[in-house]
Amino acid sequence: MTDQEKLAIDGGSPVVTEAIPSGVSGPSVVGEEEIEAVTEVLRSQQLFRYHEGSQSSLLEKEAAEFLGVEYTLLVNSGTSALICALTGVGVGPGDEVIVPGYTYIATAAAVIATGAVPVIAEVDESLGLDPADVEARITRYTKAVVPVHMRGVPARLDEIMAVARKHNLKVVEDCCQCVGGEYKGKRVGVYGDAAAWSLNYYKTITSGEGGLVYTNDRDVFERACFAADPGLPMWTNDDPMVDWQNEPFPRQTYRPSEVLAAMCRVQLGKIEDILSHQRALKKAFLGELDEAKAYRFQHVDDLDGDTGVSASVIVHEKELAIGYEHALKAEGVTVGTIYNDGFPDRHIYSYWDSILEKRSPHPSGYPWKDPNYHGNVEYSKDMLPQTLDILGRSLRFDFNMNMTVEHARLMARALNKVDAVLGG
Ligand SMILES: Cc1ncc(COP(=O)(O)O)c(C=O)c1O
Repeated sequence: MTDQEKLAIDGGSPVVTEAIPSGVSGPSVVGEEEIEAVTEVLRSQQLFRYHEGSQSSLLEKEAAEFLGVEYTLLVNSGTSALICALTGVGVGPGDEVIVPGYTYIATAAAVIATGAVPVIAEVDESLGLDPADVEARITRYTKAVVPVHMRGVPARLDEIMAVARKHNLKVVEDCCQCVGGEYKGKRVGVYGDAAAWSLNYYKTITSGEGGLVYTNDRDVFERACFAADPGLPMWTNDDPMVDWQNEPFPRQTYRPSEVLAAMCRVQLGKIEDILSHQRALKKAFLGELDEAKAYRFQHVDDLDGDTGVSASVIVHEKELAIGYEHALKAEGVTVGTIYNDGFPDRHIYSYWDSILEKRSPHPSGYPWKDPNYHGNVEYSKDMLPQTLDILGRSLRFDFNMNMTVEHARLMARALNKVDAVLGG
């Protein structure tokens, strides 16, 4: 074995000699354009969204065009967007909503905020909802399912939509981690009844915080709008463009700031460049890989559609995955096994203690003890063995705007080297 072939963890030369740059998509491309756009809003002193030609309404129009949808609503976070989308499709007290066991906790918390109960389902090797497990968890109380497109990779939408339609369930797509992603030629989010983007710091494009609800259904849209502003019809009743067809109801206030909207408009103008750079990195990484010895790729229904921000491989055994992680680190490539006992990742259901313990802000114990709810969902830390097994064997490689194609190739060469030696 040459010094190049010998693993760095065993004293060989590492594949990566200069650190691979880190970074987050949206924030890394912030430039003078964002600064100017935000400054202009501040100078105008027009900080409220309801005025003619507001930044928020312009962003909504531009986002609708980008997504190819009829209706969009800018709100103050991805969680708010999910709450509005769920309320929009009619989710409420007494309902169950199926969410995956691998997502940010906010997906399940948004369900709870509507008064409904989250039912947490297995993910499969797509690292998104397992359609068979979704079907197995449907009860007479199930109202909706929320496929989450994690780490830029669309879930198995065709199969999930088929299960949902068969059982007459609503679908709210959580696109918070897949802003700009596509599935079989259309943007993610247009397959379900409604969808949510997050525009927080970590997302494809960002304004620090923010979210977007989108749908092609006028009634869903109006209900989402009411869910985001209890005073809404009064703000817009002299606007001839708004002709509400549904009776308004009072809920929370999730209005966005004009500063946020102005920044988002600039970032939306950069999204295609971000996506094409990330996709080029992922393609270079995949193209450089040798035939795998001891791992498989995450299942991806549509490789051209994902946002390119990550690539995951699933090692055949958990112990081996941990060995790969350590060996890759010594080669200069940071990856993590997604599920490690003792490493609390808020994207894994087993760390959502507040939900697993059914903690409520009110002594009534809602939504689990709501008199409208007649189901009996139970949770425990090890209730999804398939999810824990797959995540425990997964290694995620992340790509960002500060990396070059050569960095992506180096990451692949490091994996090749480790797999050649440790993969048997
Ligand atoms: C999958 C997923 N859903 C929902 C959210 C909530 O978005 P926000 O943080 O903007 O409220 C996030 C944010 O990290 C997310 O990753």
